[in-house]
Amino acid sequence: MKIEQIFGNNKKWITSKLAVDDHYFENLAKGQNPELLYIGCSDSRVTAEELIGAEPGEVFVHRNIANMVISIDLNAMSVINYAVEHLNVSHIVVCGHYGCGGVKAAMESSDLGILNPWLRNIRDVYRIHQQELDLIEDKEKKYDRLVELNVEEQCINLIKTAAVQKAYTGRGLLVHGWVFDIKTGRLIDLKINFRDKLQHIMEIYNLSK
Ligand code: CO
Repeated sequence: MKIEQIFGNNKKWITSKLAVDDHYFENLAKGQNPELLYIGCSDSRVTAEELIGAEPGEVFVHRNIANMVISIDLNAMSVINYAVEHLNVSHIVVCGHYGCGGVKAAMESSDLGILNPWLRNIRDVYRIHQQELDLIEDKEKKYDRLVELNVEEQCINLIKTAAVQKAYTGRGLLVHGWVFDIKTGRLIDLKINFRDKLQHIMEIYNLSK
C-alpha cells in the first residue's frame, strides 16, 4: 500500500458508509458498546476486524507481537482492565496465528536485543510444554503446536488477573483461545475448557478474596 493512497481511500470509505446510512458517523460518535475484547498479533496479515467480519464499534482490540498477555505490561493490562470493568465485555479472545514470526523467533537461538525479554515469555511456554513439544519431530508441526500452546498460556494469563476472575464469578465473562490459519484463512477455536482451567488456576492464583 502506498502512503499517498490513504487519504483518497478514506474519502471513498466515508462515501461508501454514508451511501448505506446517512447517520453512520453520527451514530458512531455516540459511543462504543463492544461485546468482545480481541487480543491478537501485530502481524499485518492478521487483521482483527476483517477476519471475523466485525464493524467499527463491535470489537475492542489489543495487538502486540505474538498476542501476549504479560502481567507487567501496563499497556495490555490497561486494555484488559478497561474492557472488563468499564466496557463490560462478555468475551475475551486471544487469537494467535500459524506462521507467527514472534513464536518462530522464540524457537531460535539468536540475540534479538530489546525483543529478548518479550520473546522470553514464549520460551517459557515452550519450557512448560517441553515434554509434549520435544516429541514432535516435524519442525512445522512443532511450530504450529507452540502457536496453539502459546494462545492457551495467554488465556491462562488472562485468568490470573483480578479483573477477569471478578467478572467471571460476577457476570459470567468468558475467555476463548483461537488460531488463525494464515494458509487457508480459517479461524480455529482451540476449545480451551475455560472453566476447568480457571478452577485449576484459582488454586494458586485466586485474587477474589
Ligand atoms: Co504473529
